[in-house]
Amino acid sequence: MREIVERVRQRTSIPIYERKVENILSALCTSNDPWKIADLSEEPFPLVMAVINVLSEKGYVKLNEGIELTKKGKELLKEFRITSKKDFTCKHCKGKTVDLDEFKDLLRRFTEIAKDRPEPKHEFDQAYVTPETTVARVVFMHSRGDVENKEIFVLGDDDLTSVALMLSKLPKKISVLDIDSRLTRFIERVAEKLGCTNVEILTFDLRKPLPEEFSKKFDTFITDPPETIDAIRAFIGRGIAMLKGPGCAGYFGLTKMESSVDKWQKIQRILIEEFQVVITDIIRNFNEYVNWDYIQQTRGWKLVPVKSVPEYNWYKSYFFRIQTVESSKGYKEEVTANQELYDDDESSTT
Ligand SMILES: [Fe+2]
Repeated sequence: MREIVERVRQRTSIPIYERKVENILSALCTSNDPWKIADLSEEPFPLVMAVINVLSEKGYVKLNEGIELTKKGKELLKEFRITSKKDFTCKHCKGKTVDLDEFKDLLRRFTEIAKDRPEPKHEFDQAYVTPETTVARVVFMHSRGDVENKEIFVLGDDDLTSVALMLSKLPKKISVLDIDSRLTRFIERVAEKLGCTNVEILTFDLRKPLPEEFSKKFDTFITDPPETIDAIRAFIGRGIAMLKGPGCAGYFGLTKMESSVDKWQKIQRILIEEFQVVITDIIRNFNEYVNWDYIQQTRGWKLVPVKSVPEYNWYKSYFFRIQTVESSKGYKEEVTANQELYDDDESSTT
């Protein structure tokens, strides 16, 4: 085990220790599909692939159609008493913690509208979530008192959260911005069709500081940033800077696929120490992303030793809710780093 860890350490800058190898072996025990193994192990994709390569070199797994444990691999599992991953996710809410029964009609209308949405663009690191996820977000936010009669700011919206918010007719005002004019035009057309007059839409690059007129104007923000430290700081920090004061809320997603727990710690430190906000909720695998068609152009595809396209929505993120207190403050500086906004050693979808 220690030798596996040492070999992997020489190949990646992502922190590696025995328990992470154990998580990956446990996932290997459940599935031979590389995407599923990454999903179940909850370790960063490049790290999972590095461990699989080392396991293959040492004869613990065999790379065929899928990634199969060899006899030697199975003995390793027995020696370290590693068993398969278990899944007891609630079948009714699918782990989202909210019941969508009352919002069936909203979900139906949203799904219908979303059929004509622009397809994800690799350039902007886009990948949208399932309609159920977008609607569940609105329901979850509503359950926390952050939607009804509230002014809501959507920073980046390939998930069309603003559309689900419009359909709910609950918010007082919705402001939405995105870098992609295909999306802002689409949202504009939907707002027109629905006759929503309380929606403000802007094509904007979040690397730049937001116009001062947005400052301290909102009760709630939602964003789904790329998972580099710079992007997290810019997207979430800008959201916080737009909140009216203490007691307001922000929502965002964070994966295990592109962010190690070690990076999670850095992010949580930024939230708590730099922005001085409180983390009130973290819901595991709340956000389920629809497989994007540019996967064969991504870093993840280059890394995967068995070239099969994912057959289910393998990419998920945890849903965070943060809340402001008296001392909370956001971030308004310009981000100068260009590529680094989307890309670090742990990323795989760029
Ligand atoms: Fe449930």
